[in-house]
Amino acid sequence: MWPQQGPQCFISPRTVVLLGLLTVCISPHLSEGSPEPFRSFLPSDWGLTHLAIHNKTGDVYVGAVNWIYKLSSNLTKLRSHMTGPVVDNEKCYPPPGVQLCPHDLAPNSNVNKLLLIDYAQNRLIACGSTSQGICQFLRLDDLFKLGEPHHRKEHYLSSVGESGTMSGVIISEGHISKLFIGTPIDGKSEYFPTLSSRKLMANEEDADMFSFVHQDEFVSSQLKIPSDTLSKFPTFDIYYIYSFSSEQFVYYLTLQLDTQLTSPDASGEQFFTSKIVRLCIDDPRFYSYVEFPIGCTKDGVEYRLIQDAYLAKPGRHLANSLGVSEQEDILFTVFSQGQKNRAKPPKESALCLFTLTRIKEKIKERIQSCYRGEGRLSLPWLLNKELPCINSPLQIDDNFCGQDFNQPLGGTSTIEGIPLFIDKDDGMTSVAAYDYRGNTVVFAGTRNGRMKKVRVAEFHILWSLILCVHYWYLLGFYFREPLCLVDLHCRTQENGIL
Ligand SMILES: *[C@@H]1O[C@H](CO)[C@@H](O)[C@H](O)[C@H]1NC(C)=O
Ligand SMILES: *[C@@H]1O[C@H](CO)[C@@H](O)[C@H](O)[C@H]1NC(C)=O
Repeated sequence: MWPQQGPQCFISPRTVVLLGLLTVCISPHLSEGSPEPFRSFLPSDWGLTHLAIHNKTGDVYVGAVNWIYKLSSNLTKLRSHMTGPVVDNEKCYPPPGVQLCPHDLAPNSNVNKLLLIDYAQNRLIACGSTSQGICQFLRLDDLFKLGEPHHRKEHYLSSVGESGTMSGVIISEGHISKLFIGTPIDGKSEYFPTLSSRKLMANEEDADMFSFVHQDEFVSSQLKIPSDTLSKFPTFDIYYIYSFSSEQFVYYLTLQLDTQLTSPDASGEQFFTSKIVRLCIDDPRFYSYVEFPIGCTKDGVEYRLIQDAYLAKPGRHLANSLGVSEQEDILFTVFSQGQKNRAKPPKESALCLFTLTRIKEKIKERIQSCYRGEGRLSLPWLLNKELPCINSPLQIDDNFCGQDFNQPLGGTSTIEGIPLFIDKDDGMTSVAAYDYRGNTVVFAGTRNGRMKKVRVAEFHILWSLILCVHYWYLLGFYFREPLCLVDLHCRTQENGIL
């Protein structure tokens, strides 16, 4: 265990984990017995929300409330760019300047909700909460603002202010780039799709920026929450916790109201469920949409509230024990116990592992069974009626991307992960993993500001270790937004704790 000589600020559960893993250690060797304090970054304002690390330069881009920062890999601040407060009223659509707003305007904090590096165009996409969720394009070098499209309906992504609920993936193939974006909509399904794929134009002022990849009279590259669902369950929404691409697919991990367990009676108890959603990258009509409930069970206890996830390759030892190749994608996830309390999930939480092979297999079996005419489409929140699967002699292989029938499709059984580690005290909220000399090391951040380091082998945890205990316990307890970043990478390797 390391001395309790942490940084003079909060350790971020969600963010520090990522940063700790990915930043490069440049500090001199630690002298034995007296480690230096952790390197940290403490912004003048509070509330860091997102982190993106350039895969070549190691530069760290940080999204915060009213600010975007660029740090070097040793967490030295290189640039900052102010994004707020913005004079706004969330009831106004479109935002002032384009159309007169009949409501009172006031300065509103701009919460960074999406921060993505667009490698193809050497720019950062930073979307905020104000003005119904418009985005800025910033040059990677110096955070110079290249543009902020706001002239068309498609430029508004959603005004939900809660960070960690919107998620996006950029796919660049040749000259064409697409942005897959999932967002909660706060009941405004007439304005915002919950899931869509958008054109990402090279020129920030291009009129086609963020327009749907496909749009004709009948279908377009978007999914809306049906108004029937919203009239039955007015609080229904989909929170996009994590997203990634793997092979020819884009995946999302979501948290949403369980419309089967929750009664439409507003006074009743609410239940939530986590889903894994999959789309083919080359399916602009979204015929490939499939979703499955996802979760984890240990000793008869269910963990169904997803908190965070991280896609990684297994280390050599883990790959061997799972019987998969080292090139296989592995999904590490953290779930909280049960299905209640999305906003304040129980502190009992589980770290679980999924192989993409297994997820793909489950999805393929489900599609095949539907194309044999078995069962129904089973997607109550989206279809609001029970449509039967239609028998069709199509050959369904791993690359199948849907037809205009038998879609969208919902899984009827939960895809269960392999539980690796249960924590009953601290409330894990974030996860990241990496390979250290053939060993898979997972870091989990907790709500009360601890870090757990876990070596994963043979489906079991060998041990776990609390890396770092910080001071401001009480304040930090329900505080999910970090106040600073801490670089843990150096200690991890140099202490040789592995
Ligand atoms: C960085 O990521 C981009 C986009 O995913 C990819 O095209 C590129 O090859 C990566 N570069 C390195 C050095 O990994
Ligand atoms: C951190 O990195 C920057 C640029 O990469 C360098 O100029 C600076 O000296 C480094 N600072 C420390 C404390 O190592």
